[in-house]
Amino acid sequence: MDLVVEGNLYLKGEIIKGCVGIEDGKIKAVKKILKGDEKLDFGEKLIMPAGVDAHVHFRDPGFTYKEDFSTGSMSAAFGGISCVLDMPNTKPKVNTANVFKEKLGIAKGKSYVDFGLYADGNSDEIENLGKICTGFKIYSYEMDDNLLEKKLNEIEKTGKTVAVHGEDKNFFREMKTSNLSDYLHSRPNEAEEKMIQKIVSMNKKNVHICHISAKESINILKNNGVTSEVTPHHLLLNIDSDLGPKGKVNPPLRTEKDNEALWDALRNGTIDIVASDHAPHTLEEKQEFDDASPGVPGVETTLPIMMYFTKNEKISLSRVVNAVCEKPSEIFGLNKGKIKEGSDADLIVFDLKNEKKISANMLHSKCGWTPFENFHGVFPVCTIIRGEIVVENNEIMVNPGFGKFAGEKYA
Ligand code: NCD
Ligand code: ZN
Repeated sequence: MDLVVEGNLYLKGEIIKGCVGIEDGKIKAVKKILKGDEKLDFGEKLIMPAGVDAHVHFRDPGFTYKEDFSTGSMSAAFGGISCVLDMPNTKPKVNTANVFKEKLGIAKGKSYVDFGLYADGNSDEIENLGKICTGFKIYSYEMDDNLLEKKLNEIEKTGKTVAVHGEDKNFFREMKTSNLSDYLHSRPNEAEEKMIQKIVSMNKKNVHICHISAKESINILKNNGVTSEVTPHHLLLNIDSDLGPKGKVNPPLRTEKDNEALWDALRNGTIDIVASDHAPHTLEEKQEFDDASPGVPGVETTLPIMMYFTKNEKISLSRVVNAVCEKPSEIFGLNKGKIKEGSDADLIVFDLKNEKKISANMLHSKCGWTPFENFHGVFPVCTIIRGEIVVENNEIMVNPGFGKFAGEKYA
């Protein structure tokens, strides 16, 4: 073995003292005792698969004053995320193969973590994009029903997963908004419920519904062949949170009742995964409510916050590992998120006793703020990607460009 990593391994729902043997960046063996050229002994610390964040906006190219692929991916690495899937609403929009290839070049040159890239599903080049992209993104509120169904049909033929933002603009209310409660009124629960119903009734393969936020949406998700996602902000924040314009996000923050229904659905597996919808904007863009840009950052805090909630048993460790690591990899065909032979050797190490109060100044996003100020988190002490230490002792150990495109479906 090139490298052996030893400690308390999370393996199929159990924590077992053991070794992970790594060769050429892949997990070669998982055994009680292994010999290697190099050994990392983490003692009693917990070793689990690194997270995959299936929903980030790293703003590169086009809006790099908010974030760029190096700051976004550094933030991911410190949060225990070994692979991010970046959304196509960069500038220019990723709706042609040429734009896709340009963006791929930028990300390859700058990323600290592995990455996949979405293509915009509202495109005339779906067949070509389907050969190179990791997945498609559909903004359902941009399209009428005919166009939506037509694009979902074209995407289904490519075999790639399509992530859908499910809100029906016919249920939006045109109004001036000056607080979170107004904003919720302008984009009510019904808008999400009705769009998800519509999409589910179209019966397409490979549909993944982004950021479920309304309690009414949950019943529609049961046994219907789509996968779904929830964000930490929709689990933990609501219209009573003291965030003002910073808390403006799409879909909107809702009520405590919605929070609790989402936690239940995540715990019982009705909602499959947790993703951040990391959508950084500058503080300048988050001043006056009605003009504020919607979106909150989160790629670095998602897994630390979820790990904190395993300590007070709000959610089990096995649900967190499944929702943040295993399942996102499965949905998007990545060879990540599992401690098993043949998988990419992406591991993170936790000292669960070492919890921190989150504050913006400890995070690495360019935007410089977090909606989770003063929440608790357990951050990884080490992030390993393809057998290389990427973060250790709060320091980044690789150069930008270490991250590789992970978009190919693995056999
Ligand atoms: C996203 C962003 O800022 O890119 N904002 C958000 O509120 N989620 C845009 C989007 O995906 O709707
Ligand atoms: Zn988004």
